[in-house]
Amino acid sequence: MSVKRSRILALGGYVPSNVVTNHDFKDKMGIDTSHEWILERTGIEERRWAGPDDSGALMGATAAREALDKAGLEPSDLDMIVYATLSPDQNFPGTGVFVGRELGIPGVPCLDIRQQCTGFIYGLSIADNFIRAGQYETILVIGSEIHSTGLDRSTNGRDVTVIFGDGAGAAVVGVSDDPAHQILSSHLYADGSEAEILWTEKPGSKYHPRITAQDLEEGRHYPKMQGRRVFKHAVTRMPEAIKAGLAANGLTMDDIDMVIPHQANLRINEFMTQALKLPPNKVHNNIQRYGNTTAASIPLCMHEAVELGKIKPGDLVCLVAFGAGLTWGSVFLRY
Ligand code: COA
Repeated sequence: MSVKRSRILALGGYVPSNVVTNHDFKDKMGIDTSHEWILERTGIEERRWAGPDDSGALMGATAAREALDKAGLEPSDLDMIVYATLSPDQNFPGTGVFVGRELGIPGVPCLDIRQQCTGFIYGLSIADNFIRAGQYETILVIGSEIHSTGLDRSTNGRDVTVIFGDGAGAAVVGVSDDPAHQILSSHLYADGSEAEILWTEKPGSKYHPRITAQDLEEGRHYPKMQGRRVFKHAVTRMPEAIKAGLAANGLTMDDIDMVIPHQANLRINEFMTQALKLPPNKVHNNIQRYGNTTAASIPLCMHEAVELGKIKPGDLVCLVAFGAGLTWGSVFLRY
């Protein structure tokens, strides 16, 4: 019996309507920063931050409905939901069950995964492998994040707070026996030896109590990042993951039609583009308008590239990410 193969059937995206510009940090929040600093170091001009009616599950379900519509499918066609986030709506249960509830598909299994900025890459790999194994045929992969409610909106948190945005992206993955439209490979990596260079320490179940008034006072519930160290890893690991995918598929850099990198920092992606000698028009970025939306960034960016006609059916697309954990990886696919 031949192994079934999978493909991305369609994508969807959703961002909150509330736009936060670089100027807003100083003008509205009183943070000691500037539009020029943020633009020069990160390439970000604005991002979306959730309003009171947004939630990770609702944003994810909205992105999912668009992807399902574009695929000509109904929620009832889904066999499974994979939901990637570092910002779950609640501590437990995972947010995936709320997406299933929102889509009206009781009984459909869901798997919540973390893996931060690499979450969508891991999710796609999981979906591909469930399909290759023959257990399921149609799987929804969502990356959805609300960072804004967990950021330090004072000058203490300025390095992290200016980077992150909220949003959701979704892909419907289905069976494909056509080699012109298939997921070719996924390469996944993790290394916890420097986990603390990008993390939110508390609340955590290893602490009793999980968080104290003093922790809150010290801002231990806010994300902390050693930016330069993260930058250095990102520009090393993402090219490695791309080269691993090319080698496994017997492809060269010239074969790639479009790279969709995780949107952490435009400078990281420009550095990678130059290092790999990729023509800039073969790399799509939209961090300028959305900031770093972590697990949502790749599906949002790929969705945009498809809508703009920059990715066409049959194109060889490389998705690549690096993030907290540390985790990183790549997916090669023919769209
Ligand atoms: N506005 C103004 N100044 C800021 C600032 C902000 N938003 N954030 C930090 N600074 C200051 C620092 O306090 C520091 O001041 P000092 O020299 O007086 O101590 C100075 O700018 C330089 O800080 P540094 O952290 O060395 O800057 P950098 O050039 O490394 O840029 C990042 C900071 C965060 C933009 C950069 O390191 C980066 O993008 N790293 C990768 C981040 C990332 O991708 N994270 C997600 C991974 S998935």
